[in-house]
Amino acid sequence: MSKFSTLTQLLRFMLPYRRYWIGAMIALLFTASITLAIGQGVRLVIDNGFVAGSVSQLNQSILLLVAMAVLMACGTFIRFYLVSWLGERVTADIRQAVFDNVIRLHPSFFETNRSGEIMSRLTTDTTLLQSIIGSSFSMALRSVVTTSGALLMLFVTNIKLSLIIVAGVPLILLPILIFGRKVRKLARQSQDSIADVGSYAGEAIQQIKTVQSYTQEAHESRAFSVEVDSAFRVAQNRIRQRALLMAMVILLVFGALSGMLWVGGYDVINGTMSAGELGAFVFYALIVAMGVGTMSEVYGELQRAVGATERLMELLDAESDIKPPEGSTLVTKASHSDAQVTTQEVIPTAATLPAELSLSHVYFNYPSRPDQPALEDFSLTFKEGAITALVGPSGAGKSTVFELLLRFYDPQQGQVRFASQDLRRFNPWELRQQIALVSQQPALFTANVIDNIRYGRADATEEEVIAAAKAAYAHEFIERLPQGYHSDLGEQGVRLSGGQKQRIAIARAILNDRRILLLDEATSALDTESEHNVQLALDTLMQGRTTVIIAHRLSTILHADQIVVMEQGRVVGTGTHESLLQSSDLYARLAQLQFKHDAQTQIEPV
Ligand SMILES: Nc1ncnc2c1ncn2[C@@H]1O[C@H](COP(=O)(O)OP(=O)(O)OP(=O)(O)O)[C@@H](O)[C@H]1O
Ligand SMILES: [Mg+2]
Repeated sequence: MSKFSTLTQLLRFMLPYRRYWIGAMIALLFTASITLAIGQGVRLVIDNGFVAGSVSQLNQSILLLVAMAVLMACGTFIRFYLVSWLGERVTADIRQAVFDNVIRLHPSFFETNRSGEIMSRLTTDTTLLQSIIGSSFSMALRSVVTTSGALLMLFVTNIKLSLIIVAGVPLILLPILIFGRKVRKLARQSQDSIADVGSYAGEAIQQIKTVQSYTQEAHESRAFSVEVDSAFRVAQNRIRQRALLMAMVILLVFGALSGMLWVGGYDVINGTMSAGELGAFVFYALIVAMGVGTMSEVYGELQRAVGATERLMELLDAESDIKPPEGSTLVTKASHSDAQVTTQEVIPTAATLPAELSLSHVYFNYPSRPDQPALEDFSLTFKEGAITALVGPSGAGKSTVFELLLRFYDPQQGQVRFASQDLRRFNPWELRQQIALVSQQPALFTANVIDNIRYGRADATEEEVIAAAKAAYAHEFIERLPQGYHSDLGEQGVRLSGGQKQRIAIARAILNDRRILLLDEATSALDTESEHNVQLALDTLMQGRTTVIIAHRLSTILHADQIVVMEQGRVVGTGTHESLLQSSDLYARLAQLQFKHDAQTQIEPV
């Protein structure tokens, strides 16, 4: 992305607040002109007060100076407040916009972009941006205005001396430009490596129990220090460039200043210039010097901002691979002629169609594994209102089928259909509203029990939540939690056992009351008794719904209308429990192993 387009994108976020910007600019111009007027005050104080020796004139001049200072303070208050406000507001907007986009991206995006990295962009990069818009940027503007004003006043006061200053300016600008570019590149690297540090720490902390049980603390510390050090080295490099830049600017500026004082001093001694004039001149020259110094510093900061903005805009511009059909129109080729005809094709609404799903000759591999097919020539129909069970060894592709049904991915070949229409013709958002998923790893949020159960149905009443919890056999253990339904479950529900988490997830699916139920090992972590009870609840829930169950424990799927045996991404058998025992070797083997085991461990009835 070019530097220019990055900045125009940033501008897009600033434009809505143009009134604030204008207010800030007015305050800025106001304070800048007062700053310049103070130079004249200095001249008056010296020439009329000290040199003329008049006490009353000195008093007057001082009074004038104080008045200016008061005005200046007011102007500064307004400018500072407005600009800082803008910095906070604009970054808040950017943060929101980036998050809004990220949360809608296709899931495989997050397989290639680590969550820690994305988080760091949302936090450190936006913070950097905020400090720059809210302070550096206003410093830069102020410097530009006061410096140009001061330059003008220099010429008004004394042309000969001004030329000395002006000759120095290009000399000063050159290093700013050269070093600025280097700083920008390093700034981006620096932000990248900080993101690495963040995501490394995040993962280690999330897996803290694994880290500690394998006593890998020292190893993790060492690995972390590598990340920290490399971030430090990049930052060090960047700082060195900026320090060099500032040093050069100071040297050049004060060199020019000394030269000017030298020439001006001669003029005062010769009587061609008053002492007050030289005083005012030095004042303006100092403003120019400080202004240039600030600008060189801010220029480096701005380059950092460009680096950070680039990283943010990448996230803002990332497009989801899973797109809704374009508008409500599809460009189709008319069959009777070659002419392009635009036909109004209405997006089908899944809610009004029968809840039947099917896969037809689907070939699919995960984007991160282009050579390894997860599903091959996979065809299967999930009839409306029927219960289908998917069984098969680990890694057979069962969960992958769910991912395709939810359209988290599109197949490379073949079609996934809802009511005989390609999923790609539906709005994915509307389509997913037909489906309730209980995933293999129960997904809970940092919130209390109620909010976790009503995720997806925020409008549900407390009574409905409790009814759903009862149906999922979760009510009892929830009541025993310290604050019952209002107990906080901790990050990702860490304060619950595996089986408890599963029951909360099932309660959520029950409450959401969707026409299609996808249960991926939904009861695998439950003890036999709870499983039996939850199974009863699920049996009632499944009535009239299109249900797909993935289960390793065959006892839970004996009554399915259709059992599909999968192996290595293919269907290797379909039928009922009885028919598969005959027709599928794999199924018969699985059944024999499980039921023999069950029979052996069964306690003889008394
Ligand atoms: N996000 C992913 N990226 C790349 N490959 C994946 C991804 N998820 C799964 N796979 C691979 O796809 C294949 C099928 O995985 P899938 O999760 O569908 O298996 P499964 O039948 O659900 O197994 P299990 O019973 O263990 O849950 C596996 O070989 C797995 O390694
Ligand atoms: Mg799975």
